[in-house]
Amino acid sequence: MAVNNVVHVNECGLPLNAINWLETHHQSKAFERKQMIHDLQLQHGSFVVDAGCGPGLWTPLLAQAIGQEGHILGVDISPEALVTAQRRSVHRSYRRQVQYKRAYLENLPIEYGAADTIFSANVSQYLSDPVATFAAMGRYLTPGGRLIIKDIDFGTMRFQAVDPSLQSHVFHAREKWEKERIEQGYSFEDSWVGSKLAGYLRAAGYEDVQEKTYHVVRRFPLPLNFRNYVQGIAEWFVCEGAPFLANEDVTKWLQCFFSPTENVFNMDTFLFEETEFVVSGSWHAPTSRFYIDMPKEVASLEESLLVVPV
Ligand SMILES: C[S@@+](CC[C@H](N)C(=O)[O-])C[C@H]1O[C@@H](n2cnc3c(N)ncnc32)[C@H](O)[C@@H]1O
Repeated sequence: MAVNNVVHVNECGLPLNAINWLETHHQSKAFERKQMIHDLQLQHGSFVVDAGCGPGLWTPLLAQAIGQEGHILGVDISPEALVTAQRRSVHRSYRRQVQYKRAYLENLPIEYGAADTIFSANVSQYLSDPVATFAAMGRYLTPGGRLIIKDIDFGTMRFQAVDPSLQSHVFHAREKWEKERIEQGYSFEDSWVGSKLAGYLRAAGYEDVQEKTYHVVRRFPLPLNFRNYVQGIAEWFVCEGAPFLANEDVTKWLQCFFSPTENVFNMDTFLFEETEFVVSGSWHAPTSRFYIDMPKEVASLEESLLVVPV
């Protein structure tokens, strides 16, 4: 997942070839993601919006959870992600229950009060004002409807086989860079967002906010898809020139994951751990209270159902 060149980054900080990356990420954590959706206990027959659906990787899990009477609307600002999502669903049993549309999270192409659940995975890290966005999304929920946000928090990541002081330098350098990179023309990104989500939902006006954590642990020997995931993450930590990290540390770090002979994957002590956050809240606020002027701040997108020839 090399994202060194700003030209290859779209408006929300994703490299344009990110679909492959998202698939790798999804497959490598398939077990935990299945459990996350199971634990949500989504209502059979309900209407779920997958906000920032990307290439539609969560759709099969959501469709299974809400059953054949339920409906899913996937929205995203990336046309290539939507086309991929639509293609993925064409021959699936749930194809008639799913639609994909191009829209911003803050300006969903549905009536206010229409959605039973809005689910959004791995998107909050790109939101520069998550409280305002979550509040704007509440308008689209039925009274008592739930917003569910799933995201990462790299403050929880550890590699047991990597020198702890090197790890600490790399993580601190990236965290510092994330605070400053916007001024250098990069899009907003907060890869430490997971543990902040509950506070954001409360500040946005949600009630009964619940946080559930998923401890992702993988040991030697790593399955290939997880090795690819870890290599992508390792490369990403030092992308964009890693301005707050010494060159020597960049070299040592990359060697840990890419050296043909001395990489950490070959060590039988290898252990990777990371905690992911799933936070939900109920919306009871009157729609007018949080009817902030998002549409004025966010240029409106044409609401288009993408029809892909097969
Ligand atoms: C890291 S991807 C996650 C995709 C998918 N949810 C998953 O977990 O595989 C983030 C997605 O959010 C979309 N996105 C980011 N900001 C958005 C916004 N304000 N409105 C709609 N989509 C947005 C991006 O286009 C991208 O497809």
